[in-house]
Amino acid sequence: MELTPAEALKRQAAERALEYVESGMVLGLGTGSTVAHFLDLLATKLSQGALSDIVGVPTSIWTGREARKAGIELIGLADRAKVDLTVDGADEVSPDLDLIKGMGGALLREKMVAQASHHVVIIADGSKAVERLGTLSPLPVEVVEWASGTHARFLEGLGAEVKTRWSDDVLPLRSDNGNLLLDCRFPEGIDDPAGLDAALQGRAGVVETGFFLGIADVAILASEDGIEVRERHA
Ligand code: A5P
Repeated sequence: MELTPAEALKRQAAERALEYVESGMVLGLGTGSTVAHFLDLLATKLSQGALSDIVGVPTSIWTGREARKAGIELIGLADRAKVDLTVDGADEVSPDLDLIKGMGGALLREKMVAQASHHVVIIADGSKAVERLGTLSPLPVEVVEWASGTHARFLEGLGAEVKTRWSDDVLPLRSDNGNLLLDCRFPEGIDDPAGLDAALQGRAGVVETGFFLGIADVAILASEDGIEVRERHA
C-alpha cells in the first residue's frame, strides 16, 4: 500500500526505533498513528524470527487490540516490576526532550508505563519538534468529570483557551479510565511547563497532565531532510 509522505516519515521513525529493541525484552507499547507503524514492523520482525521472546505492555485499549491482532504477546503493567523499553509517539518534542502527549487520549497509562521503563524512545515526524512547548498542540489534561469546570476556569485564569474533548456532537470523550479530557491551548506557548504541571498536579480532581518532563531518553524525528536522533544528556 502506498503511504502518504506524512505516514512514510512516521514509518521511518518507527523503523529506526526497532534498533533499540532486543529479544527477551518487556516492551512498553505506546498509542497513536506513529506507534501503529511500530507495531506492524515489530510484528514482522517477530514473525521472521529476527526478534523473539518479547512481551508488550499496552498503554491503551486501542494498543492492546492492535497488538493482539498483530500477534504480539501482551502482559499488564502490574505483572512485571520493570519495563525494559517503551516506544511511544508525542504531540510535541522540545529541544530538551520534554514532551506534550495525550492527543490520542492515553496520557495517563502512557505516563505510568513510561515511568516504569528503563528507557523511553519517542518516535515522531519532524513536524512535532517545537522550540517551546504549547506552540503547536494544546495541553491535554485528564480530569474527573465531577465539577470539571473548576479546572477549566483555573486554566482560563492562566491564559488558556480550554475545550472539553468531544467524541461526537452529543457525548464528551472519555479516556480509557472513564475521565474527561480538557484540551488547553496557550496562544503564546507555555512559559514554565514544570510550574504549570506542579500547579495542576496539586489540584484534587486533576488525574494527569500531558506534560512528559524529563521522561524521554531518545527522540527519533523523521523529516524530509533525514532522521534526527536526539538523546538526553545526563
Ligand atoms: C496518545 O495519547 C498520544 O500521546 C500519542 O502518543 C500522540 O498523540 C502521538 O500520536 P500520533 O503518533 O498519532 O501523532
